[in-house]
Amino acid sequence: MEKTLWHPVALAEAVVHAPLAVQLLQQDLVLWRDQAGQVHAFVDRCPHRGARLSLGRVEADRLECPYHGWQFAADGHCEHVPAVPDFVPPPAHCVRSFAVQELYGLVWVQLEAADVAAPQFPAEGDDRLRKLNCGPYDVAASAPRIIENFLDMSHFGFVHEGWLGSRDATAMERYDVEDTPTGVRATNCKARQPQSNLHSTAAADVHYTYEVTDPYTALLYKLPEAGTSREGWHESIGLFICPLTPETSRVWFRLAVADFDTPDAQLQAFQHTIFTQDQPVLESQQPKCLPLDPRAELHSAADRLSSAYRRYLKARGISFGVCR
Ligand code: FES
Ligand code: CO
Repeated sequence: MEKTLWHPVALAEAVVHAPLAVQLLQQDLVLWRDQAGQVHAFVDRCPHRGARLSLGRVEADRLECPYHGWQFAADGHCEHVPAVPDFVPPPAHCVRSFAVQELYGLVWVQLEAADVAAPQFPAEGDDRLRKLNCGPYDVAASAPRIIENFLDMSHFGFVHEGWLGSRDATAMERYDVEDTPTGVRATNCKARQPQSNLHSTAAADVHYTYEVTDPYTALLYKLPEAGTSREGWHESIGLFICPLTPETSRVWFRLAVADFDTPDAQLQAFQHTIFTQDQPVLESQQPKCLPLDPRAELHSAADRLSSAYRRYLKARGISFGVCR
C-alpha cells in the first residue's frame, strides 16, 4: 500500500548534473535530470551486470552505466550498447523506472502506479507566505514515530525547555481531535512558549492546528500571535518524510512564513535547533516501529491526537514503520 503513495526522496536542487543515489521503502533508486530539466527515477542497478547506475553519468538525455557504458533513456529503455554499436536493443532491455514529480522544492517518487495525489501543502499557493525547506535530516527512527513527535505538544516543556515550553507550565488544555476525509486534525492546541520563533522577545501564547493528510506527512498551522501577526495569515510547517527502511527516515520541513526579511540560513537554524532537540529522544524510542495496538503503550488524555493518528494508520492498512 505504501508503494502507491508519493514520497519525497531528495531536495530538487540536489538533483543537478550528476546522478544521485537515494533510497525509498528499502529500494535503492537513482535520480537524474535530463537536458530539458526533467527528473527521472530508476532502480539503482544496471540490468546488464548489476553495477550501481548512480556511479555513472548523464550523457545528454540518457543515463550511462559506469561499468560498460550502456545508456538508458528517460523511460528506462537501453538505447546504446557501446561494445556492440550496431545492436538495436529490444524493448525488454530496460531498467525499471518510476513516476516522478517535483513539488514543494522536493522530488517525489511513486513506486507503484496508482491514481493517488501527492500530499497537499495548502500554504504553498499563498503568495503572502515565503516558502523554504529545512533538511534533509537522517534520523534513526521510523517515519510514524517522527510524525507522532511532530503532533505531540506535551513534550515541549521537557525536550524544548526554554524554547517551545517550560517545566513550570506543562499542563495542556483540552484540544479537539476530529477525523477528516483524508486523515486527522487537532484544533485549539494552545501552548505558552518562551521562544516560539526566531524573533520572540517574550513568551507568547501560540495556537496551533495540526493535520495529518497522508501516512508520513503532517502539517502545522500556526494561528497569529496576538499583536504580532497580520490578520488572516496562517504560517505553516509541513513535515515530509521519506521512509528509507522500517527504522530509518529522511526528513524535510517546509516552512511557509510571513517573514520575507530574515536570511534562509537563520530561519533554518531555528528549525534545526528545535529538531536536533527532538532527534536524540526520537532515536531512543523502543520499539522503533510505532505500535498500533492501544495496549502496547500507555496513554494520557494529552495523547488523543497520537491515538487518532495510530487508528488512522491502522484503518489505512499502513505496515511500513509500524509494529506488526
Ligand atoms: Fe551496466 Fe554493464 S553493468 S553496462
Ligand atoms: Co519536539
